[in-house]
Amino acid sequence: MLDVTTMRASLHDAYDLAPSIDLAESMSDIYARMDRVVPPSDWAIHAPYVAAINALKQERSAVILGHNYMTPEIYHGVADVVGDSLQLAIEATRVQGDVIVQCGVHFMAETSKILNPSKTVLIPDMQAGCSLAESITAEGVAEMRAKYPGAPVVSYVNTTAEVKAASDICCTSANALAIVEAQDSDMVIMTPDKYLAQNVANQSSKTVVYWDGSCIVHELYTAEDLRAYREYHPDVAIIAHPECTPEVVAEADYTGSTRGIVDWVHKHHPKEAMLVTECSMASNIADELPEVEFAKPCNMCPYMKKITLEKILWSLHTMSEEVIVAPQVAEKARSAVQRMIDLSR
Ligand code: 13P
Ligand code: SF4
Repeated sequence: MLDVTTMRASLHDAYDLAPSIDLAESMSDIYARMDRVVPPSDWAIHAPYVAAINALKQERSAVILGHNYMTPEIYHGVADVVGDSLQLAIEATRVQGDVIVQCGVHFMAETSKILNPSKTVLIPDMQAGCSLAESITAEGVAEMRAKYPGAPVVSYVNTTAEVKAASDICCTSANALAIVEAQDSDMVIMTPDKYLAQNVANQSSKTVVYWDGSCIVHELYTAEDLRAYREYHPDVAIIAHPECTPEVVAEADYTGSTRGIVDWVHKHHPKEAMLVTECSMASNIADELPEVEFAKPCNMCPYMKKITLEKILWSLHTMSEEVIVAPQVAEKARSAVQRMIDLSR
């Protein structure tokens, strides 16, 4: 477990991390990507960390893969590649440097390690988990196979390497329907997200049976709340992630992965948009879309928010915490992830 006091003291010994208006102004090109959502006083605090991380990245030959739920100073300040789970998995296979720093949650770091095992994969906080990944084990997958003999198992990438290894193929929110449809069976088992499974089932010709997991962030949204908001904001575009309940998805103008959501807003330029997903999504695209008013209701992912600039700097400074996947597990998990990538191309 990270000792924050020791980390902070060591970092301040090694780097000049005092807030600096001069440094902040000299990095105004980076700040311009987030000045609608990050106040100048906060940027003066972030800038020394951003500068130190970007210098250390070069020294360590490191690449930062950042999920769309990272805060704007990470997303715009230090990430080399940003995207949804599918994009980050594909990008992980292309990394040429020695080190991958995964700014996202643990299953994403494991996926990078599985796909590019010769790289050192670091995660700035090992406690960055996911309620979905924690909801099922490989034994759970075996239970489902015993209950529905012969049905292929499609596991969401939001799972541990062991669960991926026990599955036939993986999927992400970007390709779940296509992956299910591609299975050579009338019945398909989906784990672990019951809402993603129900949303897929509503569009699929297959019988979809599923595990009882859910995302603690997306399950908080209710269709009643969305209807109530729309009553007073009739022009709002409601854009949801498929980890939301089917009732919420039924209220949405569009449902898609985090990348799908970003692309939809760029394409349609609604006057007002409510992104029914994690809070940082709207913040990260606010400067690119000044004409769009983003409705404020949003929920924070406590796991994603464990990743901070300070911990990223510590991670690169100490080359910790390294994500390791046992080779025999990695090999089987790789087949399940690679099958998904091949089908998605
Ligand atoms: P995406 O693949 O859509 O980015 O989703 C990942 C996730 O954890 C959403 O909660
Ligand atoms: Fe997991 Fe939900 Fe957080 Fe995504 S938002 S990482 S699914 S807990």
